Amino acid sequence: MFGFKKKEKIDLPLQVPKHIGIIMDGNGRWAKKRMQPRVFGHKAGMEALQNVTIAAKNLGVQALTVYAFSTENWKRPEKEVKFIMNLPVEFYERYVPELHKNNVKIQMIGDTNRLPEATYQALCKAEELTKLNTGLILNFALNYGGRAEVTQAIRMIAQDVLDAKFNPGDISEEMVDDYLQTSILPRVLRDPELIIRTSGELRLSNFLPWQSAYSELYFTDTLWPDFDEKALEMAIREYSRRNRRFGAI
Ligand code: FPP
Repeated sequence: MFGFKKKEKIDLPLQVPKHIGIIMDGNGRWAKKRMQPRVFGHKAGMEALQNVTIAAKNLGVQALTVYAFSTENWKRPEKEVKFIMNLPVEFYERYVPELHKNNVKIQMIGDTNRLPEATYQALCKAEELTKLNTGLILNFALNYGGRAEVTQAIRMIAQDVLDAKFNPGDISEEMVDDYLQTSILPRVLRDPELIIRTSGELRLSNFLPWQSAYSELYFTDTLWPDFDEKALEMAIREYSRRNRRFGAI
């Protein structure tokens, strides 16, 4: 008997990235679709972040860096900025206990000098509480800007050259890496293998420009508050496919 054997669709095993960066975009549009104020979307976005963090931990992701507030976000209306800046306070009270139970370690990068005191203190308390945890690292990029980070690293390197700690010729990529804010992460986790951006925008917006040199980029139209465990798995499935193709060459 002749006939074509039906090709079976095989679900490949997931290759889980060690470090995922997420640009959590679309909160405002999500709220607008529901005829709600923009801040309603940020609140829902915080809930999504909690669920995605636990889902990522369950999938075996070791670090998540989430873009919570960029250096450009200060240009938003004062009321909205105030609301976003208060989120870490609420986050600490409402969500951090569950993350702590899940062995999640909380850290932050960004220019913390400009953060309101209560925002900064809430994050410090979360860091302190979870500092001995050995599970997934949840790294908040808050008042973060990639170019500012690189500029600051250059300043520190230049100062160390002036102080005769080393010569310009000694500067290596590894050394630059150590001057970036992501040096708070273990070396093998500094560069995200995968960067996800929600809400259909196709750019990185000053997010981890040095660290993303080899990252796979995944863009989805899903608005951040709708991004869930399934959506994360889909992104990782796509990453696994890309990795498999390149790995074979
Ligand atoms: C971008 O959406 C989102 C932000 C600038 C804020 C993201 C913050 C969270 C998801 C909560 C994080 C939680 C803590 C604890 C800090 P947008 O407002 O630009 O949406 P739009 O493009 O639809 O207007």
